[in-house]
Amino acid sequence: MKWFMKSLFYTLCTTMLLFATGYDEKGMKLYKKLCASCHGSPDYGAAQLEESEWEDIFFMRGLKLLKIHKADSVLYHRLQKASAKKNFQHLEAYLIGNAKDSGSVGGCDGNRCGFHSGTIPMKK
Ligand code: HEC
Repeated sequence: MKWFMKSLFYTLCTTMLLFATGYDEKGMKLYKKLCASCHGSPDYGAAQLEESEWEDIFFMRGLKLLKIHKADSVLYHRLQKASAKKNFQHLEAYLIGNAKDSGSVGGCDGNRCGFHSGTIPMKK
Protein backbone atom coordinates (compact mmCIF):
# COMPACT_ATOMS: atom_id res chain seq x y z
CA MET A 1 0.00 0.00 0.00
CA LYS A 2 2.93 2.30 0.68
CA TRP A 3 4.08 2.39 -2.93
CA PHE A 4 0.63 3.47 -3.92
CA MET A 5 0.62 6.45 -1.55
CA LYS A 6 4.05 7.37 -2.75
CA SER A 7 3.15 7.39 -6.41
CA LEU A 8 -0.02 9.29 -5.66
CA PHE A 9 2.03 11.89 -3.85
CA TYR A 10 4.43 12.30 -6.76
CA THR A 11 1.61 12.53 -9.26
CA LEU A 12 -0.01 15.26 -7.21
CA CYS A 13 3.21 17.21 -6.90
CA THR A 14 3.91 17.03 -10.60
CA THR A 15 0.40 18.10 -11.47
CA MET A 16 0.62 21.09 -9.15
CA LEU A 17 3.97 22.07 -10.55
CA LEU A 18 2.68 21.91 -14.08
CA PHE A 19 -0.26 24.12 -13.23
CA ALA A 20 1.99 26.58 -11.49
CA THR A 21 4.23 26.96 -14.51
CA GLY A 22 1.46 27.26 -17.08
CA TYR A 23 2.71 24.15 -18.75
CA ASP A 24 0.12 23.21 -21.33
CA GLU A 25 1.65 20.21 -22.99
CA LYS A 26 -0.76 20.11 -25.91
CA GLY A 27 -0.20 23.79 -26.49
CA MET A 28 3.52 23.34 -26.47
CA LYS A 29 3.27 20.59 -29.06
CA LEU A 30 1.12 22.80 -31.23
CA TYR A 31 3.65 25.57 -30.93
CA LYS A 32 6.40 23.21 -32.01
CA LYS A 33 4.39 22.14 -34.99
CA LEU A 34 3.15 25.54 -36.09
CA CYS A 35 5.53 28.21 -34.87
CA ALA A 36 8.91 26.89 -33.76
CA SER A 37 10.42 26.63 -37.23
CA CYS A 38 10.42 30.41 -37.48
CA HIS A 39 10.18 31.72 -33.96
CA GLY A 40 12.35 29.33 -31.98
CA SER A 41 11.75 26.99 -29.06
CA PRO A 42 8.45 27.10 -27.17
CA ASP A 43 9.59 28.85 -24.01
CA TYR A 44 11.63 31.32 -25.93
CA GLY A 45 8.73 32.13 -28.22
CA ALA A 46 6.16 32.46 -25.47
CA ALA A 47 8.37 34.72 -23.41
CA GLN A 48 8.76 37.26 -26.17
CA LEU A 49 5.35 38.78 -25.57
CA GLU A 50 3.32 39.69 -22.52
CA GLU A 51 0.09 38.00 -21.51
CA SER A 52 -2.05 40.85 -22.76
CA GLU A 53 -0.27 40.83 -26.11
CA TRP A 54 -0.94 37.13 -26.56
CA GLU A 55 -4.56 37.64 -25.57
CA ASP A 56 -4.82 40.32 -28.20
CA ILE A 57 -3.27 38.13 -30.87
CA PHE A 58 -5.54 35.20 -30.04
CA PHE A 59 -8.71 37.26 -29.78
CA MET A 60 -11.50 35.70 -31.88
CA ARG A 61 -9.64 32.49 -32.53
CA GLY A 62 -6.43 34.10 -33.60
CA LEU A 63 -7.75 36.80 -35.87
CA LYS A 64 -4.58 38.82 -35.52
CA LEU A 65 -2.34 35.82 -35.70
CA LEU A 66 -3.73 35.12 -39.14
CA LYS A 67 -3.44 38.73 -40.21
CA ILE A 68 0.19 38.95 -39.14
CA HIS A 69 1.11 36.01 -41.34
CA LYS A 70 -1.03 36.82 -44.31
CA ALA A 71 1.95 37.46 -46.59
CA ASP A 72 2.88 33.77 -46.41
CA SER A 73 -0.10 32.07 -47.98
CA VAL A 74 1.02 28.54 -47.18
CA LEU A 75 1.45 29.41 -43.52
CA TYR A 76 -1.74 31.43 -43.54
CA HIS A 77 -3.80 28.46 -44.64
CA ARG A 78 -2.04 26.21 -42.16
CA LEU A 79 -2.84 28.57 -39.33
CA GLN A 80 -6.38 29.01 -40.56
CA LYS A 81 -6.93 25.26 -40.47
CA ALA A 82 -5.33 24.97 -37.05
CA SER A 83 -7.40 27.77 -35.60
CA ALA A 84 -10.61 26.01 -36.59
CA LYS A 85 -9.67 22.98 -34.51
CA LYS A 86 -10.72 22.43 -30.98
CA ASN A 87 -7.21 22.11 -29.60
CA PHE A 88 -6.24 25.58 -30.80
CA GLN A 89 -7.12 26.96 -27.39
CA HIS A 90 -4.23 24.99 -25.94
CA LEU A 91 -1.79 27.01 -27.99
CA GLU A 92 -3.19 30.19 -26.54
CA ALA A 93 -3.16 28.73 -23.03
CA TYR A 94 0.44 27.70 -23.38
CA LEU A 95 1.63 31.03 -24.73
CA ILE A 96 -0.23 33.05 -22.13
CA GLY A 97 0.87 30.73 -19.35
CA ASN A 98 4.48 31.19 -20.31
CA ALA A 99 4.43 34.82 -21.36
CA LYS A 100 7.09 37.29 -20.40
CA ASP A 101 5.15 38.60 -17.42
CA SER A 102 3.59 35.28 -16.42
CA GLY A 103 6.09 34.84 -13.64
CA SER A 104 6.90 31.29 -14.66
CA VAL A 105 10.44 30.46 -15.52
CA GLY A 106 10.54 27.31 -17.57
CA GLY A 107 12.74 24.54 -16.31
CA CYS A 108 14.93 22.54 -18.64
CA ASP A 109 13.74 19.09 -19.58
CA GLY A 110 15.02 18.90 -23.11
CA ASN A 111 11.75 20.15 -24.57
CA ARG A 112 11.71 23.50 -23.02
CA CYS A 113 15.13 25.08 -22.92
CA GLY A 114 15.07 28.51 -24.42
CA PHE A 115 18.35 28.55 -26.25
CA HIS A 116 17.03 27.95 -29.73
CA SER A 117 16.49 31.52 -30.61
CA GLY A 118 14.53 31.09 -33.82
CA THR A 119 15.12 33.22 -36.88
CA ILE A 120 12.24 35.67 -36.72
CA PRO A 121 11.77 37.84 -33.66
CA MET A 122 8.17 38.41 -32.63
CA LYS A 123 8.90 41.58 -30.78
CA LYS A 124 9.98 44.57 -32.79
C1 HEC B 1 7.03 30.37 -41.82
C2 HEC B 1 7.48 31.20 -40.74
C3 HEC B 1 6.56 31.54 -39.61
C4 HEC B 1 5.82 30.69 -38.82
C5 HEC B 1 5.75 29.17 -38.92
C6 HEC B 1 5.15 31.51 -37.85
N1 HEC B 1 5.47 32.82 -38.04
FE1 HEC B 1 5.00 34.38 -36.79
N2 HEC B 1 5.96 35.65 -38.02
C7 HEC B 1 6.61 35.30 -39.19
C8 HEC B 1 7.11 36.52 -39.83
C9 HEC B 1 7.87 36.58 -41.14
C10 HEC B 1 6.74 37.58 -38.99
C11 HEC B 1 7.02 39.05 -39.18
C12 HEC B 1 5.87 39.72 -39.84
C13 HEC B 1 6.12 41.19 -39.95
O1 HEC B 1 7.08 41.68 -39.37
O2 HEC B 1 5.34 41.82 -40.62
C14 HEC B 1 6.03 37.00 -37.86
C15 HEC B 1 5.53 37.75 -36.81
C16 HEC B 1 4.95 37.20 -35.69
C17 HEC B 1 4.55 37.95 -34.54
C18 HEC B 1 4.75 39.45 -34.34
C19 HEC B 1 3.47 40.16 -34.62
C20 HEC B 1 3.63 41.61 -34.74
O3 HEC B 1 3.19 42.32 -33.85
O4 HEC B 1 4.17 42.05 -35.75
C21 HEC B 1 3.99 37.08 -33.67
C22 HEC B 1 3.41 37.38 -32.31
C23 HEC B 1 4.01 35.79 -34.29
N3 HEC B 1 4.61 35.89 -35.51
C24 HEC B 1 3.50 34.64 -33.71
C25 HEC B 1 3.49 33.40 -34.34
C26 HEC B 1 2.87 32.23 -33.77
C27 HEC B 1 2.17 32.17 -32.43
C28 HEC B 1 3.06 31.21 -34.67
C29 HEC B 1 2.52 29.81 -34.60
C30 HEC B 1 1.10 29.67 -34.42
C31 HEC B 1 3.83 31.75 -35.78
N4 HEC B 1 4.06 33.07 -35.54
C32 HEC B 1 4.29 31.02 -36.86
C33 HEC B 1 6.82 34.04 -39.67
C34 HEC B 1 6.30 32.89 -39.13
